[in-house]
Amino acid sequence: MATLQKVVRSTVIDAPVERVWEVLRDFNSHDRWHDVVERSRIEGGERPDQVGCVRAFTLRDGNRIREQLLALSDEEHRSTYCIVEATVPLLRYVATLTLKRVTDGDRTFWHWESTFATPPGRERELSAMVARDVYEAGFENLRRHLLGGTGREAAPRGTWTSIASAAAVETREVRVSRYGEPEVLEPAVGTCPPPRDGELRIRQRAIGVNYLDVYLRRGWIPHMLPVPGIPGMEAAGSVLDAGPGVSGFLPRDRVAYLCAQPGAYASVRCVPADCVVRLPDAVDDETAAALLLKGATADYLLRDLGRVGRGTRLLVHAAAGGVGLVLCSWARHLGATVMGTVSSDEKARVAREHGCEHVVVTADYRFAEAVHRVCGGADVIVDGLGDAAADENFAALAPGGHWISLGQASGPLRPIDPNRLVEKSASFSRPAVFHYVSTAAMLRERAQRVWDALASGAVRVPPVGRYALDAAAQAHADLESRSTIGPLVLVA
Ligand SMILES: NC(=O)c1ccc[n+]([C@@H]2O[C@H](COP(=O)([O-])OP(=O)(O)OC[C@H]3O[C@@H](n4cnc5c(N)ncnc54)[C@H](OP(=O)(O)O)[C@@H]3O)[C@@H](O)[C@H]2O)c1
Repeated sequence: MATLQKVVRSTVIDAPVERVWEVLRDFNSHDRWHDVVERSRIEGGERPDQVGCVRAFTLRDGNRIREQLLALSDEEHRSTYCIVEATVPLLRYVATLTLKRVTDGDRTFWHWESTFATPPGRERELSAMVARDVYEAGFENLRRHLLGGTGREAAPRGTWTSIASAAAVETREVRVSRYGEPEVLEPAVGTCPPPRDGELRIRQRAIGVNYLDVYLRRGWIPHMLPVPGIPGMEAAGSVLDAGPGVSGFLPRDRVAYLCAQPGAYASVRCVPADCVVRLPDAVDDETAAALLLKGATADYLLRDLGRVGRGTRLLVHAAAGGVGLVLCSWARHLGATVMGTVSSDEKARVAREHGCEHVVVTADYRFAEAVHRVCGGADVIVDGLGDAAADENFAALAPGGHWISLGQASGPLRPIDPNRLVEKSASFSRPAVFHYVSTAAMLRERAQRVWDALASGAVRVPPVGRYALDAAAQAHADLESRSTIGPLVLVA
């Protein structure tokens, strides 16, 4: 027979023992104060303090548990209960909670302990889950409940980890089994394993398409996407469950992520929790997937690398593209003089609507002369075009200008001779967004600035091109044909 695990936790609550006991003696109160309990009812219409009564409750991830009240003492402020049936693997679970008055004031000492068995190999995981996500989170949740009296809306974000995570779940995905043209993107059905340490498993509803996905599909950066592999760096959806060690997320939390490890072209995926941000209600899944990576890119380009502000002469290539539209409207809001290149009149119209004051329509990368005519040269160039535009970019720079080589839609840039930069005291950067969101705090900050900018109108919401996940090949073909306007998402 498996050895029993024992979990013990205690705390002091800043409220009189009578007040705390009033809540806890009600065996059916936990869906009003504990964050992980979705809803609870007492079976058979019995009183919730009747020894022998059974509470049937559902956790937020859909797990169901029935527990029976075994003993209740109003004198000793103690109750004991056990699990009689559950979809979670806590076997022979018996718990007791006891309250004691703290002698130096109106405070309460709360002791909570349990014993239970687990399936072999899951002892540590399940003990940690009970300790942290049931007891410690419960202490916090009850504190808030007593303080605010507003119930679970006032509760802090839970630190509950799902224990329903032993199973792999089916996922629809788009794979690349050999590098090549868009046709190599092939829909398939796969399985998503349970989340590992530090990971969240996410049900994805919208997946951002980035030009980087094209480079990966073509095999230009094979170490990032070895084949067979799944492209995609960002998505939005909701949390299914979490691996050990994850805190701050609950099942069904609406989230988005941006991650240096490809694999987003799927309906379900595990990602490190450090790459994930919770979404405000005002930002829907498609907007989040369309704008998290591109918005974070615009944020580091304008704020950190380009230091764009009032009067900066900024040249944005592909000004009607995914990154381009965000850059134009945000830079204009910051007071920059915004110039942009696009390849069609329709794109020029949309770029202007998004703050691009001076638009050069050119499909063959001729723009330097126009830039000098408008404002005497660019202080900052954001260049996702790459090789075909290299000479024109250098020519368009103002003295002291900064050429930021962001990408290579027209082909990889040939090496830049540093001695050439001295002709204009110019500087050259070749950044990647992943370095600018490399910690959870950096990502959260940048994401928040993007959502704030959308809310305040500093960034105008761009038109978003939608494709079914299975139509990823079409999305890539359209992106490469230069016919798309704004960001693209795959809808799963
Ligand atoms: N380094 C980073 O941190 C980072 C982060 C995000 C994005 N990026 C880069 O930023 C650029 C924009 O990315 P995005 O995802 O927003 O794509 P996008 O701008 O929506 O699409 C690419 C655009 O590039 C232009 N383009 C010019 N020559 C092209 C060619 N030969 N083939 C295809 N397109 C061509 C097209 O606009 P026109 O037809 O109007 O010229 C096209 O619409 C890409 O180079 C991407 O790699 C870099």
